[in-house]
Amino acid sequence: MTANPKSERKAWLNGPSAQCAPMPTPKEHPWRLILFGPPGVGKGTQAQLLHERLGACQLSTGDVFRAAGTHAACDLTPAMQEALAYMRKGELVPDTTVWQLVRERRGCLHCGGGFLLDGFPRTLGQAQSLQGLLDREGLELSAVLSYELPLAEIVSRLSGRRTCKQCKAVFHRVHQPPKSDGVCDLCGGALFQRDDDQPEAIRVRMGVYRSSTAPLIEFYQQRGLLIRVPATGSPDEICRRSLEMMEWRATSTHGHELA
Ligand code: AP5
Repeated sequence: MTANPKSERKAWLNGPSAQCAPMPTPKEHPWRLILFGPPGVGKGTQAQLLHERLGACQLSTGDVFRAAGTHAACDLTPAMQEALAYMRKGELVPDTTVWQLVRERRGCLHCGGGFLLDGFPRTLGQAQSLQGLLDREGLELSAVLSYELPLAEIVSRLSGRRTCKQCKAVFHRVHQPPKSDGVCDLCGGALFQRDDDQPEAIRVRMGVYRSSTAPLIEFYQQRGLLIRVPATGSPDEICRRSLEMMEWRATSTHGHELA
């Protein structure tokens, strides 16, 4: 199994004035999904696979913060410097900073190809703000895919993760190893271990997930949007499972295109 190349998501990563190239092909019924679940369950991996199948763009708040972290400290706003400090410790970035980032990029929510929100919303406040924005913009969520996995497997996925410094492709030392140790298969960039994948930060992130993020399961269940997806097996198996569960739901509601 090899890592998948990332599509060009310039607009989401670089802010409101950036353009994606090429622009995604508009769909009659674009998928507007939230990928939900604990840190390391495989949301980013699934986002790439679902992007290839559905054409919808992966919009990851964590990716935006990491991209900002590659800039010189003097180029960062005080709010972004503060955000990166929270992130390194494994804590959540304050809602106001996250919300500013998403609101600035609301054009991406209108993308004709649809969207896959990865890592947002993460608190009840963020979920309520998102709901208000979508209502105002006349957009409807298709579903919330909630990925579920036993804690021991999550910790193993996180501690073995390696990410490319250049193209951000994700590997795993055991489950998805690069062909050459420490080198990205796709662009030849160096692989590194994220600061927040160290044991202490993983412990903090799991605690934060339980206290602040897990309550969103009920929020979306009450709205009839939640699809619980077991995240065991290979990434391809999980993707197939997600699509089957979405198809089943879509035929009874919206009639989206899966191909
Ligand atoms: P973010 O980047 O969103 O991280 P996360 O939610 O903690 O999720 P991860 O990226 O760690 O994991 P993932 O589920 O995407 O798993 P992956 O596919 O990589 O956020 C980071 C930080 O930013 C937060 O802690 C916070 O500080 C801040 N932040 C971001 N958004 C925020 C918000 N909305 N509010 C406040 N703060 C926010 O897979 C993990 C590993 O497992 C990889 O090595 C992969 O190769 C491997 N793997 C994947 N699938 C499988 C499989 N099926 N079998 C075996 N291995 C697999």
